[in-house]
Amino acid sequence: MTNSGDGEPGRDHRVRRAAEARQRADQARERAQEARDRLAELRQDQSRLMRHDERPTGSADHAERAGALADASIRQARRAAANAAAANRASADVHDSAARLHNQLAEVGIGDPDEHRRQARQHQRDAAADRVEAEHDDELGEHFAIRPMRAGAEADGEVADPVEGDMTGDADSIRARVDELLSKMTPAEKAGQLTQYFYFRLPAGADAEPALGLEVETQPRTVEAALARGEAGSLLFVTDPAEINRLQRLGVDGNRLGIPLLFGFDVIHGLRTIFPVPIAMAASWDIETIERGQAVAAREARAVGIHWAFAPMVDIARDPRWGRIVEGAGEDPFLGAAVAAAQVRGFQGADLAQPDRIIAGPKHFAGYGAAIGGRDYDEVNLSEYELWNVYFPPFRAAVEAGAGNVMTAYMDLDGVPAAASRWLFTDVLRQTWGFGGFVVSDANVVRNLVTHGFATDLTDAAARAVTAGVDMEMAITDPAYAHLPEAVQGGAVGEDVIDTRVRGVLEAKLRLGLFDDPYVDEDRARSVLADPAHREAAREAAERSAVLLRNEGGLLPLDIDRLGSIAVIGPLADSQRDTLGPWVFDFDLGETVTVLDGIRRAVGDRVRVDHAAGIPVVQRVFPSMFDMFGGNRPADPEGFEEDTEFARAVDVAAAADVAVVVVGEWQNMIGEAASRSSLELPGRQLELMQAVAATGTPTVLLVMNGRPLDLRWAADNVPAILDIWYPGSQGGAAVAGLLFGAASPGGKLPFSWPRTVGQVPMIYSYTRSHEPDNQSRRYWDEASTPLFPFGHGLSYGAFDYADLTVEPTVIPTDGSVTVSVQVTNTADREAPEVVQLYLHQRHGSASRPVRELKGFQRVVLPGQASRRVEFTIGPDQRRYWSTTERDWVLDNSTFDVWVGGDSTAELTATFTVGRTAIH
Ligand code: NOJ
Repeated sequence: MTNSGDGEPGRDHRVRRAAEARQRADQARERAQEARDRLAELRQDQSRLMRHDERPTGSADHAERAGALADASIRQARRAAANAAAANRASADVHDSAARLHNQLAEVGIGDPDEHRRQARQHQRDAAADRVEAEHDDELGEHFAIRPMRAGAEADGEVADPVEGDMTGDADSIRARVDELLSKMTPAEKAGQLTQYFYFRLPAGADAEPALGLEVETQPRTVEAALARGEAGSLLFVTDPAEINRLQRLGVDGNRLGIPLLFGFDVIHGLRTIFPVPIAMAASWDIETIERGQAVAAREARAVGIHWAFAPMVDIARDPRWGRIVEGAGEDPFLGAAVAAAQVRGFQGADLAQPDRIIAGPKHFAGYGAAIGGRDYDEVNLSEYELWNVYFPPFRAAVEAGAGNVMTAYMDLDGVPAAASRWLFTDVLRQTWGFGGFVVSDANVVRNLVTHGFATDLTDAAARAVTAGVDMEMAITDPAYAHLPEAVQGGAVGEDVIDTRVRGVLEAKLRLGLFDDPYVDEDRARSVLADPAHREAAREAAERSAVLLRNEGGLLPLDIDRLGSIAVIGPLADSQRDTLGPWVFDFDLGETVTVLDGIRRAVGDRVRVDHAAGIPVVQRVFPSMFDMFGGNRPADPEGFEEDTEFARAVDVAAAADVAVVVVGEWQNMIGEAASRSSLELPGRQLELMQAVAATGTPTVLLVMNGRPLDLRWAADNVPAILDIWYPGSQGGAAVAGLLFGAASPGGKLPFSWPRTVGQVPMIYSYTRSHEPDNQSRRYWDEASTPLFPFGHGLSYGAFDYADLTVEPTVIPTDGSVTVSVQVTNTADREAPEVVQLYLHQRHGSASRPVRELKGFQRVVLPGQASRRVEFTIGPDQRRYWSTTERDWVLDNSTFDVWVGGDSTAELTATFTVGRTAIH
């Protein structure tokens, strides 16, 4: 204040500031009260849970769950205590400044000096009371022993006990270290820690996607300037270890306090060793394989200096027009949750400070997969019923598995941009689920709050996102969070909020051990990336994820000894880049095994193999933003002449003993910003397939895809169809093993495969409604059933299900039943099978889906072998979120159970929940 005592403008200004101060004091008081209320609730929960925990339940599962809930509750209570303390201290500070203002106004004689002095005394008393409260909150916080985040789990899929020690470091010393750093940081440095920049070095001559607002030349310089000022907390999109070391050095040297940078990257399905795309991994229904895949990815990533994966994407996807269906686990929340937790465990392991583990960042919280029309980034309107029962479960499972990070979504959820939803990030994620990590925005999402027509400007956008619970902003350039100091100064955000956010980021850096050693050993990186065990894991994963959709007359496996020649047809058959799939950037094309390579290697000199692309590559109508990265845009070989090539393909097929036709989508047609209005095979692929089949040569169709495509013709006319997805670095080797019977396919569809785009969205877990007998005839021009049902997948075995039992058949509300079934492989050879259990509740406080997956087990049975497979169905499998009750409920009802090899399983039994049977 410089112009004290002078005329009207100065006086008005002071009066305004006093009013503002009063307002802020009120707000801070409200925040403190809210925090205290939350704390009280949590304390009640805590003691309820503790009692529950002590009660002998006789069930390890039950105790495990109670333990997990108790852990979450302890974390919540601790955080609520810390929030209450911070809010009380903030309130005290504001009272102090209000008191000072009143004293000044009294001194200069503006208004009634006695009244000002009275008010000043009152503010001083309030400030003192708030400080006492804050101390009290501190003490309460101390009661809740500091427990580490839940660690990863053992390989058998069980959640492990929390690991004390290294994974989180010593919690007290981490907190002390963070406190010390925070006390020394300037507002700009704090905002910097909350900022993550893309760092792009695009290939010479690359055209940046205009929508990204990216200046190819200046972008790296802007980022390096921020590093030199100590105002960047994290970078993304760098994968070269030497470059990471160089940038880390700039970051550490540029930061007054030597705070290291976190490097994040889209490690979606491998870094150098590329695994099958995530939807394919989910199709394996093989939790160990999924966990192992992300463990390999983590090992390679950490070796090059990446600390954090923007994965798994756990968005439920029920509309295959949405390109990002390829990145998730499909349509089902139960499968989605199991896959999400496995990936988190794979990335993070039990100890983040180990040289082969990285932070997992489940994304995009929440509902992104329900974009209307399947149009990427478009708005989402989901009921709370769907959010809690369908879209949230994979996130919750990822959080319970200990995920250290969560990423926001892009779109509006029910009219509010997801990234500004306090409900999502504070109420649900942190307070309800006890998430203890940090939240990052998706790229440019914070500045997008202005684009949404929600925030007035970047300062407002930053204030709203940070207040909602978004710790770090991912920015391409010009971050909104650079305006945070301004937002704090203007009173839109409390300093305590900023400190809480920075705390989350610094804790992650400390837990990773980055303060001890932020650099990587480039020689070690080279040898880790070259590890042959990684390639073998990728091959095995590709083998386990393929889904045999059709195998009429047992055409597959092919007998090499009875073949003279094979025609391999289609442009995707020998495309290294497409074999890898979307969302990879650090691949090695040279070592990628295409389908053609795999077949050639498997048959050696014994069988003649001819290849013809037949048709040209198909380009997108609107180019992909990922085409700006080298090698991503497909191209025809030089001198390609379409008609000649088509005729040659047909001749090659006609002359062969068997034709293997590879069809699908080019990899840039699926993934982010790759939504489609149709599910047809792009270009002349259907025509090519028809022409090959018309030659009379037995034809095997391999589908390279990340979404279901319109295969109606093939399903009627091509005897064998194997979905190989985008199978990754060793894809061709795995496919050859399956074609020639070295291994049997065993994958199952993680989505319902529609007949045509007009049917979407189509799910197996719909609810029954008017005229249920007409359910499959809702369209007059096409069946309302899928072409292939959810869970479908054949093998070279033949599985028979019999003798389904449920014990007991009447249970109390909190009881469990054991479901058991005899599974027999009636074929002569060993094969895998995923035994699936579906449940239906006949009546209750909501109409529940006709069936829901509630259990699965992947078994491998030798020929003619039989095994009993058991499942437990307890409260966890029956509980659902009810809109009527606005809470989780367990209804007394009668339940139908089906067990079998897909979602149309017919073997069924019932049981009743309630004291007596209710029908
Ligand atoms: C945008 C995508 O939506 C997100 O999934 C990804 O992690 C970031 N870009 C970073 O590449």
